[in-house]
Amino acid sequence: AKLCRVVALQELSLRPLEILKMSLYRNTVWFLKGLQEYTKGGYEAAARSFSEADLEVNVSGRSFIITGANSGIGRAAACEIAKRGGTVHLVCRNEDRANEARKDIVERCKNENVHVHLVDMSSPRKVWEFASGFSQKHNLHVLINNAGCMVNQRELTEDGLEKNFATNTLGRKVDSWTYVLTTALIPTLKKSENPRVITVSSGGMLVQKLNVEELQFEKGSFDGTMAYAQNKRQQVIMTEQWAAQHKEIHFSSMHPGWADTPAVQSSMPDFHAKMKNKLRTEAQGADTVVWLAISDAASRQPSGLFFQDRKAVSTHLLLASSRSSPAEDQKLMSKLEELAVKFKC
Ligand SMILES: *[C@@H]1O[C@H](CO)[C@@H](O)[C@H](O)[C@H]1NC(C)=O
Repeated sequence: AKLCRVVALQELSLRPLEILKMSLYRNTVWFLKGLQEYTKGGYEAAARSFSEADLEVNVSGRSFIITGANSGIGRAAACEIAKRGGTVHLVCRNEDRANEARKDIVERCKNENVHVHLVDMSSPRKVWEFASGFSQKHNLHVLINNAGCMVNQRELTEDGLEKNFATNTLGRKVDSWTYVLTTALIPTLKKSENPRVITVSSGGMLVQKLNVEELQFEKGSFDGTMAYAQNKRQQVIMTEQWAAQHKEIHFSSMHPGWADTPAVQSSMPDFHAKMKNKLRTEAQGADTVVWLAISDAASRQPSGLFFQDRKAVSTHLLLASSRSSPAEDQKLMSKLEELAVKFKC
């Protein structure tokens, strides 16, 4: 606690040059860590200590929602769950791509219990509507918040919300709706046995400290990658806060590593080109998602933690001054709640 206070004091006294140095420090430390751990080589090294038996589970009778399931990590996770007998609900926005993904999963993963839900993202109201309609018809054991987006300019949605924030954190417009969807499904999850919520965050969040005063990036110049990382930091904090509030549900957030997915290709083309040979496969990126969603080993871990390659890891880099205070974390939740109820039907 004393160390925390010292670090907090240091943070308060940072001047612009020091802030710049800190950001350079965080980015450099993070990138070196990534080369070591987030690559295909990093996965293979970590996988040596994985237990095969952890994923030898039959999840028939259990129901899973996966957002952004039509490609990449979401689709790979959906397939692994389908293979093991789970009922899979794909939540997507594009009808053709969703149906194509369903067909592929049914054939390749040998399970007919794969359902497509198309949700109009034009309003968080639709997310609430989807969740309440879903809850009337189906039960739910596991929610996987996978979908995300990265835009490289500050764009506003029709409601005047900044796009990365609206999508990744609040849940609007494109296909990640972490806060609204999770909040809306919590009552349904609580009725199930061994319910879980897994949120696919990113190691990129390690370079960001929560900035609760600037949720929508109104000031200064806009950097899409940093905005994305800030949203991913928010998801990690939401997970911790939910875990404290809802003891009946097992929450976790995770980092898939650097995987070769369509999303990485299109939103970070330079990174993708440079790193192509070192990137993980989609299945390697999805491994920890699947492990968190189905294994007994995962449910024995405390709720609210951040995982990388089946291990709970620190949510901060060493000496990076990225810790927010409990008051700031609670303020994030109350601000999100305030925004979310505005759209509730
Ligand atoms: C899972 O168990 C059920 C019966 O409990 C069985 O019908 C089904 O074939 C099993 N599925 C897999 C993928 O092993």
